[in-house]
Amino acid sequence: MQGYEEFKRDVFKLTGLDLSLYKEKQMKRRLESKISRLGKKSYKEFFDLIKSDKKAFDDFMSYLTINVSEFFRNYEQWVKLEKVVIPKLMKKSKELKIWSAACSTGEEPYSMVMLLTRFFPLSQIKILAADIDDEAINQAKQGLYREKSLDNIPRDLREKYFEKIGSSYKISEEIKSRVEFKKMNLLADTYPTGFDLIVCRNVMIYFTDEAKDEMYRKFNASLRDGGILFVGSTEQIISPSKYNFSSEETFFYTKYL
Ligand SMILES: C[S@@+](CC[C@H](N)C(=O)[O-])C[C@H]1O[C@@H](n2cnc3c(N)ncnc32)[C@H](O)[C@@H]1O
Repeated sequence: MQGYEEFKRDVFKLTGLDLSLYKEKQMKRRLESKISRLGKKSYKEFFDLIKSDKKAFDDFMSYLTINVSEFFRNYEQWVKLEKVVIPKLMKKSKELKIWSAACSTGEEPYSMVMLLTRFFPLSQIKILAADIDDEAINQAKQGLYREKSLDNIPRDLREKYFEKIGSSYKISEEIKSRVEFKKMNLLADTYPTGFDLIVCRNVMIYFTDEAKDEMYRKFNASLRDGGILFVGSTEQIISPSKYNFSSEETFFYTKYL
């Protein structure tokens, strides 16, 4: 389909989102299937639609950003987090500063708060959770989930922190209140600093190598010395030392100076 270059420029002007930092083949395939399903014939027609129709715009952003998530996603890695990574971080700091960098609909930061209740009183837990997608953040703040996404939650935590409402499950206010949600574009915004742990999972797979390169540097700068970056299960860093990271556990990278 013609017109992708112009579409990227238009989307950037409209949203500040630079699609050229997302893997092109994958992005075009997804967009073109969406465009056809909407009965549109070109990127231009599609852009005219999202520019003039708020609902179509929100729908485009959600589609683009792929919000799939679940609690304790890849459970084995959360076990490693509990048994190895958090105890190691606690030797350095008594209170952990944590950022869930592409938090989607909230499953990841809420999993983190629940896990941390095994180590700290709730009042000492505070997590920053950010995503580019307003709609996802709104859903996260609502905290309502389908049963399927709860599958991996350890039974004690699930019983303690969820209430069944109709066919959904609502996360408790005490867990919710420990998370601060913020809109942030990882490809353009300034990163916050001073973290012991950054969780950035299942988003870098969508980005080009150049974009990832820049992000690893920025994540490194956002961590304290000895701080850890936790990535998704298909997102191992090829040469971590290039970014001053060492890999002691798979999917966890420690910053060194
Ligand atoms: C597949 S979800 C991953 C959610 C969660 N981290 C997990 O592993 O279950 C990817 C998330 O990345 C977000 N995202 C995509 N591009 C982004 C960007 N440039 N900046 C921040 N978040 C972005 C999407 O909105 C989406 O919520």
